[in-house]
Amino acid sequence: MKKTVGSLLRQKETGKKISMLTCYDYTTAKLMETAEIDTILVGDSLGMTMLGYPDTLSVTMEDMIHHGKAVCRGVKDIFVVMDMPFMSYQTSVYDALVNAGRLIKETGANAVKLEGGAAVCEQIKAITDAGIPVVAHIGMTPQSVNAMGGFKCQGKDAAKAQQIIDDALAVQEAGAFMVVLECIPSKLAAIITSKLMIPTIGIGAGADCDGQVLVWQDMMTMNTDMRPKFVKSFAQGGDVMRDAFAEYDRQVKAGDFPGPEHGFKIDDEVIAQLK
Ligand code: KIV
Repeated sequence: MKKTVGSLLRQKETGKKISMLTCYDYTTAKLMETAEIDTILVGDSLGMTMLGYPDTLSVTMEDMIHHGKAVCRGVKDIFVVMDMPFMSYQTSVYDALVNAGRLIKETGANAVKLEGGAAVCEQIKAITDAGIPVVAHIGMTPQSVNAMGGFKCQGKDAAKAQQIIDDALAVQEAGAFMVVLECIPSKLAAIITSKLMIPTIGIGAGADCDGQVLVWQDMMTMNTDMRPKFVKSFAQGGDVMRDAFAEYDRQVKAGDFPGPEHGFKIDDEVIAQLK
């Protein structure tokens, strides 16, 4: 059955955890659908995972739409959330509304996500009022990596922790129906989760959130360059792929692939007619 804002809110009410993974392409989206993942985030992390940038700052609306369309073609029941890229909503409420509209109209996704708390509440309200569900994202917000001085845990002192609680309440008040809590202490995430009516989705925010999100290449151990503390390896996907590539290389060079079973036949009579 198609996941909706209503069904996700009910999952919080009934204590059924929400699974979310990032996804950026059609084939992976289809696999996630068969695995019955609740929600896909077409994250601007695609800047790193798909495009090789050092952070998310260079990702454009066109990048997001290109990948979002591919993901949406691969799924039927999963609820798809599109990240709003850096500077597509910070500049004005008008820009936020136009760009949120484009992400939904041009991809077929179900919701948008944007980073920030009280500072982006006007944008959240305007997008929600236009009928587009909004997921907020607070705590460690990667688009502010330069202001934060790196990808670091946030909210460790009382003032910063209180600010994150206030941001969570503000985005809920502005209309967000879900909020991502990234890299904050687990106990702080538990307090926020108990204060909010809307689901919290944690990444590096402990087990008491209403759901969890991971970047799929991280949980499949595709990338060994960077390994955040909060990532768990669910399979050695990188090893499986590297071994398969190496075996392909070996078989091609040894003449073991392709075999006769991989080829197409032609009648000898046809061959005989060839000059
Ligand atoms: O872009 C992304 O992948 C994200 C998650 C880390 C929450 O925003």
